Amino acid sequence: MIIARTTVELRAALDSKTGSIGFVPTMGALHVGHRTLIEKARRENDVVVVSIFVNPTQFLAGEDLSKYPRKEEADFKICELCGVDVLFYPEINTMYGKDEVGIKCPDIRGYILEGASRPGHFDGVLTVVMKLLNLVRASRVYFGKKDAQQLSLITQMVENYFMNVEIIAVDTVRESDGLALSSRNVYLSQEERIDALKLSASLKKATHLVMQGVIETKAISNAMMGILQPLKVEYVAIVNRRFEAIPEVIIGDTIVLIAARVGSTRLIDNVWM
Ligand code: PAJ
Repeated sequence: MIIARTTVELRAALDSKTGSIGFVPTMGALHVGHRTLIEKARRENDVVVVSIFVNPTQFLAGEDLSKYPRKEEADFKICELCGVDVLFYPEINTMYGKDEVGIKCPDIRGYILEGASRPGHFDGVLTVVMKLLNLVRASRVYFGKKDAQQLSLITQMVENYFMNVEIIAVDTVRESDGLALSSRNVYLSQEERIDALKLSASLKKATHLVMQGVIETKAISNAMMGILQPLKVEYVAIVNRRFEAIPEVIIGDTIVLIAARVGSTRLIDNVWM
């Protein structure tokens, strides 16, 4: 595995390879969710590139940028074991200069749900993904459905800017008890981890209700709120794939999303129907 820390090293590493490139952008602290993306990229491409970069521009003031988990050695080992060809591991000043041209998320879809709780977050996500895609020139790029709004906005950016990359969406990987894997789960105490199960439990309830024929979104979100008590819920939303609120679930075009605080840790989860 080649570890490239600069754009020059990355270009040299990529120039030494031939064939299709599968790319998995991450912020590190790799878990089985990330591994699933990397393994899929490995199966589907000749060359696999992973980036690890804790992107400062997607963290708002007061968020967990400085304490975001960093596990360089373990991450390198995981990448090596998964058969990654090139690991891009840049410094902040490799990725950003001063007074840059910015990428801006859409005014509506970028400022609802995650964007309402974290205004400006998606500008940072889209900016870094644009930079990374321009550097790696991947054939396919892999994203988790866990970050559904991120995935949707990146898909829109790729369309709006006529970017030449195929986006592959990967199902959320969960612990056996239902908790969606997240780098932020390490912040949870033992009791908080039990409380955190309310997120996946409420999504399971939503799925059950729909299977029983309850498709009115208000009824579903009320039932979910009941299960989520006493967590501090930031939102429960039921939207279509374009992230528009809908009165009734449409199978094949619905995402049920939650953001809630468990203690001081902010968790998100969702289910695609
Ligand atoms: P990060 O949170 O490290 O996630 C990297 C990728 O792993 C994302 O596509 C995310 O959706 C996916 N992922 C995380 N948990 C998952 C799970 N439990 N199951 C399946 N996939 C999962 O998302 C980011 O980094 C950043 O915003 C990034 C896109 C790298 C831009 O900085």
